[in-house]
Amino acid sequence: MMNSNIIYHQASVTREGRNKLNNHRSVVLWFTGLSGSGKSTLAHTLEEKLFQKGCRTFVLDGDNVRHGLNSNLDFSEAGRAENIRRISEVSKLMLEAGLIVMTAFISPINKDRNEARGLISNDNFIEIYCKASIETCEARDVKGFYKLARSGKIKNYTGIDSPYEAPENPDLIIDTDNQSIEESVSTILNFIELNGIII
Ligand code: ADX
Repeated sequence: MMNSNIIYHQASVTREGRNKLNNHRSVVLWFTGLSGSGKSTLAHTLEEKLFQKGCRTFVLDGDNVRHGLNSNLDFSEAGRAENIRRISEVSKLMLEAGLIVMTAFISPINKDRNEARGLISNDNFIEIYCKASIETCEARDVKGFYKLARSGKIKNYTGIDSPYEAPENPDLIIDTDNQSIEESVSTILNFIELNGIII
């Protein structure tokens, strides 16, 4: 809902100023993929590398954010859409704060991801598709949730009885079925360097 009685305050410390101070651009790296496709692992490993290079970073992770900010949301279509909408707004604030933001959410629906891209803006949104087959993710079953989903103890589990729509036009595809974590992270780092994010 729009509130027409509130105006924006124009800050004198700008995103551009912060980017200059940090020696890198702020950007949102939006990881998407099935549960167990490697989103969080890649985001956190990448964060370590960027941190070592002196970058200001932050990882927003489904498993953490759903305990706090989004603890009132379920895994229905509407719950997931609202989850992604809030994450997009938080990412946008972090972008203004000058950070390289990495988001690790299944974000299974094209429309929700495209709305995130629209809100954050195309130039600042890099969609990274962690591509792994459901068979691989299920075999990994790090949290044991696939087993529970197969036995009907968890309903609406992505890839089992809830859809995952693969990105139509991702900026980067990481084949985590076949690539090691190190290979995957260096692919993303190369992309970051090629796109002039680190000044
Ligand atoms: S999203 O679909 O709304 O983007 P999100 O990334 O926040 O999902 O949370 C996914 C994590 O929640 C999974 O990795 C898993 O640990 C847990 N989870 C619990 N129930 C479900 C479910 N029904 N579908 C998918 N993930 C679930």
